Amino acid sequence: KIPLLIDTDPGVDDALALLMAFADDRHDVVGLTVAAGNVGLDYTVRNALKLCEVAGRDDVPVFAGTPDPLVYPAEDAAHVHGRDGFGDVDLTPSARKAEAEHAALAILRLSHVHAGELTLVALGPLTNIALALKLDPTLPQRLKRFLVMGGAINGHGNITPVAEFNIAFDPEAAHIVFSAFPHTEVADWEATIAHGLMHRDVEKWLAADTDKARFYELISRKTRLWSEDSRGEYWYAADALAMAWALQPEGGIHVEQRPLSIELTGNRSRGATVVDWNRQTGAPDNTTLLIGYDQGRFEAQVRGALGL
Ligand code: BDR
Ligand code: CA
Repeated sequence: KIPLLIDTDPGVDDALALLMAFADDRHDVVGLTVAAGNVGLDYTVRNALKLCEVAGRDDVPVFAGTPDPLVYPAEDAAHVHGRDGFGDVDLTPSARKAEAEHAALAILRLSHVHAGELTLVALGPLTNIALALKLDPTLPQRLKRFLVMGGAINGHGNITPVAEFNIAFDPEAAHIVFSAFPHTEVADWEATIAHGLMHRDVEKWLAADTDKARFYELISRKTRLWSEDSRGEYWYAADALAMAWALQPEGGIHVEQRPLSIELTGNRSRGATVVDWNRQTGAPDNTTLLIGYDQGRFEAQVRGALGL
């Protein structure tokens, strides 16, 4: 099996991505490293542990990362995911605790344990991965794949007019990461928009008689209502699409390779992902950008995650 390490800030769409990863029999989730982002670190760690419990995967170690962005404070996304990040439905926390090891150190250690084999998928702000890179810049050499949910490759942001949440939450971390990795696979917000899930389909799937569907119906209720009110008939599960691609990278996929860098300053553009579409900078193509993914396969992967 392919070892998979997931850096995540659960988060309702993170939860769906994690269920997808656990359900995939070609991959073995070797750990969850947890970032702050959608909500504060105490909640994202608690949610990661709860998700493992619900998935029957209490064997998967959970490592807490760093509570704040590297340089400047940032606002969370509690208005999307609920104050507790899982829809404010009073879940009983898992009895398990996070490991003592810091997420950044766990990333480095696991990159040695699974050297040359490991796929690292980042579903939240890139703070932990930036710290790991500062501690050991040779990290990229030991990864087989590195995939990020983040960015807005044509400037259609979701948290500012031009920036996407995961990058805008900690732009310095994103800058460190995209500068250090020779190659990153990027599933951005615009790919998410191109692969919406119809609310009426999602509601049908979530009505199924499985523990995972019941749990997911509960934690996603608030965000799905918010999404229907503010965005219309499609629901956008960014992290789930990124994970779909991470798990099934072959066939039915349209990608482009381009240089990508992060805007750190600017009155309106901080946190933007600047894609050099016309290759004017001479910088190397450091990213593979997801443009299109087989929608039927994505939806089948979502149903599989829910135990359908
Ligand atoms: C990203 O931001 C978060 O709110 C989601 O979990 C996802 O990772 C989408 O912009
Ligand atoms: Ca996320």
